[in-house]
Amino acid sequence: MKRPSVQISAMGRSVPARVMTNYDFAAIGIETTHEWVMERTGISERHIAGPDDTTCSMGAKAARIAMQRAGVLPGEIDIIICSTATPDRLLPATAVDIQASLGASRAAAFDISAACCGFLYGMTMAEGLIQSGAAETVLLVSSEKMSAITDWTDRATCVLFGDGAGAAVIRRSQKGRGILSTFMRSDGTLADLLYRPAGGATTPMSPAVLEARTHLVHMAGREVFKHAVRSMAESADRALDGARINGGDIDLLIPHQANLRIIEATAKHASIPMSKVYVNVDRYGNTSSASIPIALDEAMQKGVVGEGSLVLMVAFGAGFTWASSVVRL
Ligand code: UT7
Repeated sequence: MKRPSVQISAMGRSVPARVMTNYDFAAIGIETTHEWVMERTGISERHIAGPDDTTCSMGAKAARIAMQRAGVLPGEIDIIICSTATPDRLLPATAVDIQASLGASRAAAFDISAACCGFLYGMTMAEGLIQSGAAETVLLVSSEKMSAITDWTDRATCVLFGDGAGAAVIRRSQKGRGILSTFMRSDGTLADLLYRPAGGATTPMSPAVLEARTHLVHMAGREVFKHAVRSMAESADRALDGARINGGDIDLLIPHQANLRIIEATAKHASIPMSKVYVNVDRYGNTSSASIPIALDEAMQKGVVGEGSLVLMVAFGAGFTWASSVVRL
């Protein structure tokens, strides 16, 4: 029996109002320059949560926009998946807070933890849930308050991240639209290259943890960079192969927005010209799992892509995790 096709019906996004530029780091005692950050990462500014912005509030705002565009009421949502590396609290899931905020009382709600790949992992899960008949309408919310787990004294990492959320309403597809291929991989032997060493059940929060700042993100930047380039290339190949197309067929590549140099390497590997690559890392920094849905929503709203466009999405993040997908919008 042919499995039903599944599509992204509509997208939404939300970022905090506050913008922090590369020039603002001097005021918090960080020794860096706009030129260094631009040259090494391509990031010029990022949005940073204010006191009232939470992972739930940003995610719910993005979700409301996506639901309104899809014409979906809260009571029609069967499942809410929230991907986040920055849950508002560790128990229960941020997804249930989003459920309460939306009034989506019929839904089952849970979080997934797949770092920067959360949106593509979540989309693959949503596809399977719909194909199995477990759900008709899935709300996928990727919301990240990276500023809450950033070490604001470490210049090697604090310049990289930003806050924000993207959301997708996912349903059965119409008119040949939909997800054409998905690919997911992980390698837990490399977990310690990008992680929060403490603050979990093994080493709970304590004065010593706070003082050592080991509850915050630690990253071996150069190592992560090398793996990101390699794994994003593999991911692009696998999603293109899965959809039986090549880079030349793609209307838009939306890579995870961590570093412009990684984005350029991925595009070059897939033989996709930069004119067909969506880049907004300059304005948002790395928003972890929110980066791809924010970029996809922006590209759709700007008319860079529309109904029928062929989009390749590729991600890499902590875990390590890597993933990709080709969708016909
Ligand atoms: O979302 C998950 C995926 N994450 C990523 O993809 C991140 C991957 N990694 C990267 O993007 C890059 O490794 C970074 C942007 C994090 C760093 O760039 P890099 O070219 O690998 O720099 P580096 O860490 O090797 O540091 C080079 C130098 C060092 O100085 P010395 O030891 O050569 O004297 C650093 O201390 O740059 C220095 N440095 C800085 N200088 C000015 C590090 N951070 C800064 C800074 N401003 N903010």
